[in-house]
Amino acid sequence: MLVIIVQDKPPEGMIQRAKSQRRWTRGLARRGIARQVGQEALVDRLKEALHPSSPPSFLGGPGTSGGEGACEREVSMSDGRPVQMTTDYWGRERLDQAILDALAAAGKRVDSLTIDDLAPLDHFHHGGKAATVRLAHLAGMRPGMRVLDIGGGLGGPARTLATEFGCDVTVVDLTASYVHAAEMLTARLGLGARVTHHLGNALELPFDASTFDVVWTQNSGMNIAAKEPLYAGFYRVLRPEGRLALQEPMAGPVQPLLFPEMWARDAATSFLRTPMEMRALIEAAGFRARAWDDVTAETAGPEPGAAVNVQSIPYLVMGEALATLNHVAYRNRTEGRIVVVQAVFDRT
Ligand SMILES: C[S@@+](CC[C@H](N)C(=O)[O-])C[C@H]1O[C@@H](n2cnc3c(N)ncnc32)[C@H](O)[C@@H]1O
Repeated sequence: MLVIIVQDKPPEGMIQRAKSQRRWTRGLARRGIARQVGQEALVDRLKEALHPSSPPSFLGGPGTSGGEGACEREVSMSDGRPVQMTTDYWGRERLDQAILDALAAAGKRVDSLTIDDLAPLDHFHHGGKAATVRLAHLAGMRPGMRVLDIGGGLGGPARTLATEFGCDVTVVDLTASYVHAAEMLTARLGLGARVTHHLGNALELPFDASTFDVVWTQNSGMNIAAKEPLYAGFYRVLRPEGRLALQEPMAGPVQPLLFPEMWARDAATSFLRTPMEMRALIEAAGFRARAWDDVTAETAGPEPGAAVNVQSIPYLVMGEALATLNHVAYRNRTEGRIVVVQAVFDRT
């Protein structure tokens, strides 16, 4: 079911998002990237956000942002508003082409890419590809495992699990432009038989019970408030004795969290809980902890003042805002406002 919110005038939050989108577009335009990612489309999206006359283009429905394959499907939503805010925050028009252009600018041969060529542009979480490999070893990933990657984004973790650990990976993500870019990158690497990408909501998984050996998720739960149903859904789709592997930023001992953070402009779409609360709610959903590692230090991002890598996925998505985001993230990390945890659980 696709829920569309009809309003006489756009809410303040939507106007702020539209303004932010305009700043992002200007930033890219200064670097000559705007044309590649569709400035016209972004302007249309801005107008649409300010004067909604039809279903918002970023809801992931037919004929919207994100490319053909992803757009022909609908995201099922029981509550459209949080989903809309999340996809609006992450989504970028023509991200697939922007990634290819960034790879070419970095001197990569786009017709013979490797997963290491892609790593700066398709692992969108603390610690990059090294953190993915660390979690895979922690979880004991083995050839033939059927993996569901929740909020798998552009598919870097999924392709790593397929090529370096021999897994078969199903990826679900809410953001149409990411799903479309992920499909393109997976096809370019010839991994279509091992990795599939689906537009969908982690809270409404369209899979039968006991379908997967492993549920995997990296840096995707921060935008999801309803954590109890989220982990209940993971339990349902895992086979008995299956495994849950996660990497998540969690609330540190010092609060409040400072904004803007990488995943949210403000507290309206950021839902962190403390490590103790997270572990308790996951165990209450029917899981038993095997490993629980604080990886805050080893997955730390850049220090303030460090050069911004313009051929990276954070830059392609956040543009000129990235320097500020990195600075705020540094403060949150060093002041104890967030911790990053990798954990592995067994489904009982
Ligand atoms: C920071 S990115 C991480 C992507 C990927 N896991 C990685 O590590 O490269 C966060 C992702 O979570 C996805 N996401 C957020 N809420 C979601 C939900 N309710 N269902 C599915 N995906 C969601 C976003 O669309 C986005 O792609």
